Amino acid sequence: MTDRPLALVVGANRGIGLGVVKEFLARGCDVIATARAPHAATALQALATAHPGRVEVRALEMSDSAGIDGFAAEMAGRTLDFVLVNAGVAGPAHRSANAATIEETGALMFVNAIAPIRLGRALLNAIRKDKGVLGFTSSVMGSVALNAGGHELYRASKAALNSLSRGLFAEMRGRNLTLLTLHPGWVRTDMGGSGAPVSVDESAEGMVNVLLNATGSRRHAFVDYQGKEIAW
Ligand SMILES: NC(=O)c1ccc[n+]([C@@H]2O[C@H](COP(=O)([O-])OP(=O)(O)OC[C@H]3O[C@@H](n4cnc5c(N)ncnc54)[C@H](OP(=O)(O)O)[C@@H]3O)[C@@H](O)[C@H]2O)c1
Repeated sequence: MTDRPLALVVGANRGIGLGVVKEFLARGCDVIATARAPHAATALQALATAHPGRVEVRALEMSDSAGIDGFAAEMAGRTLDFVLVNAGVAGPAHRSANAATIEETGALMFVNAIAPIRLGRALLNAIRKDKGVLGFTSSVMGSVALNAGGHELYRASKAALNSLSRGLFAEMRGRNLTLLTLHPGWVRTDMGGSGAPVSVDESAEGMVNVLLNATGSRRHAFVDYQGKEIAW
């Protein structure tokens, strides 16, 4: 890789993450993109072929604590300008706290809230001091203030991510980093469904704009893909 800015996108083989990788490349950044199964991540492999030396595809399974710590250790010595921890799941189809098992709750909370913070914390020393931006893909559904009911398990997992991200920011002050907790819009992906109003390209362009523009702001904000603040 080169002296171009370096972005890390976690959960990048499809949906919003893949769109964000394409957008970072279009903006002149090199990208480290993670997938659970890199060899099966054909869209990412095609991007790596089309942009020689600019895309590194790495394996990362967010339900594997040791794998998260090992990946972060591999990033020591790299200087990451932008990090977007984007991987996430919708949770069980019944969506109900009353129906949820301990196993379902654990898997959802771990992947959507605990693992992103564990990874973000482990990467802090690899993020460019003073200018680096760490982002977590959350959701407006994680807003307690705007909660109108429904999807209660998924909402709780993103609310937990929001709370944990604020706690992480408190630990980060010495490094002058910026932390964004991001809502990508309601996006036409496997998770968002075909009726969602926002395309992957629109969301990704907005998400990357927001990440690039946040450089040096050294604050923690909950914002959407258009840069609009969301009530916590
Ligand atoms: N789409 C929306 O309308 C919307 C709205 C608000 C927030 N979000 C959030 O945006 C993010 C991306 O959503 P999306 O719509 O692009 O969803 P998606 O199309 O379902 O893609 C989810 C991504 O997360 C990865 N992932 C899931 N579980 C993982 C695990 N255990 N370890 C590593 N990677 C894992 C998936 O990898 P695999 O291909 O291997 O499964 C995939 O790359 C999520 O955090 C989601 O909660 C989406």
